[in-house]
Amino acid sequence: MTAMPLPQLRLEVPMNDLDAQYRQIKGEVDAALARVIEEQSFILGPHVQRFEANYADYCKVGHCIGVSSGTDALVLALLAVGVGEGDEVIAPALTFGATIEAICQVGARPVLCDIDPQHYTIDPEQVRRCLSDRTRAIVPVHLYGQVADMDGLNALAVERGLVLIEDAAQAQGARFRGEPAGSLGRVGCFSFYPGKNLGAYGDAGGLTTNDEVLAERLKRLRNHGQVAGDKFNYREIGFNARMDGLQGAVLSTKLPHLNDWNERRRVIATRYCAELAGLDCMTHPVEAPHAHHVYHLYVVRVPDRDALAASLQAAGVETAVHYPHPMHLTPAFRLLGCGEGSLPVSEQVCREILSLPLYPEMSDEQVDWVIDAVWRHYV
Ligand SMILES: Cc1ncc(COP(=O)(O)O)c(C=O)c1O
Repeated sequence: MTAMPLPQLRLEVPMNDLDAQYRQIKGEVDAALARVIEEQSFILGPHVQRFEANYADYCKVGHCIGVSSGTDALVLALLAVGVGEGDEVIAPALTFGATIEAICQVGARPVLCDIDPQHYTIDPEQVRRCLSDRTRAIVPVHLYGQVADMDGLNALAVERGLVLIEDAAQAQGARFRGEPAGSLGRVGCFSFYPGKNLGAYGDAGGLTTNDEVLAERLKRLRNHGQVAGDKFNYREIGFNARMDGLQGAVLSTKLPHLNDWNERRRVIATRYCAELAGLDCMTHPVEAPHAHHVYHLYVVRVPDRDALAASLQAAGVETAVHYPHPMHLTPAFRLLGCGEGSLPVSEQVCREILSLPLYPEMSDEQVDWVIDAVWRHYV
């Protein structure tokens, strides 16, 4: 009897694998969490302070303020720089909803702007067209892990006296001209949502700035308008937007690994780009001049996005779309008055983008598997 060939082992490749990361650092994380519980230091406190100091160093800024989410970081940043009723804030149409939501939450009007078709970040030339007498701030989003064109944006900000607030939620460790995301504007806003390059074990966020007065205001705003050492003497109307001790401890544990994890992301991105380069129908991410991309997401463009996603799913490869709709075509933000066709690059990109799995714990075999599955869809 002839032996039957063994069926090829099928790999499953999820979009992310937080469990694999936890297993690598389980000892460190468990010990850090236990310490917080033993010390009963649940809100702000020494574990948050330690993370704030370490993350400020990492971002090469004077101050980091730990908060409860990236969304709260954006709201607090806008308020603290004085954006409010009657102001306009320019932001890209291709982003996660929180960017635009935060502008609305402080009573300002978001002015949605088109993106650079190569890098998917806000296009300074388009920003210029969005300016008005009411423009107070620009919120560039360092989308997918790549810093926006800060040269062009800074020049505009200086020329027009505007505030630059970085939405660096997806860009922990990214750099522009060697300088870290979060140090490139008046204030940087980070999300430490669990799936981010640096992720907490729940919601968490942070603000970075070199401005000491702004940092003090942000600390007040996150804690009901109180200042340290003068409890219940509310200086202004604030929020409950504090970081938890458990999140501070997890983030401090993970931060020393971030550069290695980001390097592994870059290795996988280089493989995708090189080994799928022969597919003419596929557009790969492009690292902009002066940028150090940290590939929070690896987003390709193809004309048959939904068909490719279905083939990959059948092959056990999970994909996602970040994002299927530009902000101005979602029900909540249609009221901003931009109709279909008004921001053509964002609209076209949203029809064609697909995020392939990319996370540091992905094995070389999983990367092979994804590449092979993409090729098999097209040949
Ligand atoms: C670009 C961007 N901005 C803001 C946020 C909001 O962060 P959070 O979910 O921590 O509130 C996110 C989260 O995914 C994001 O991707």
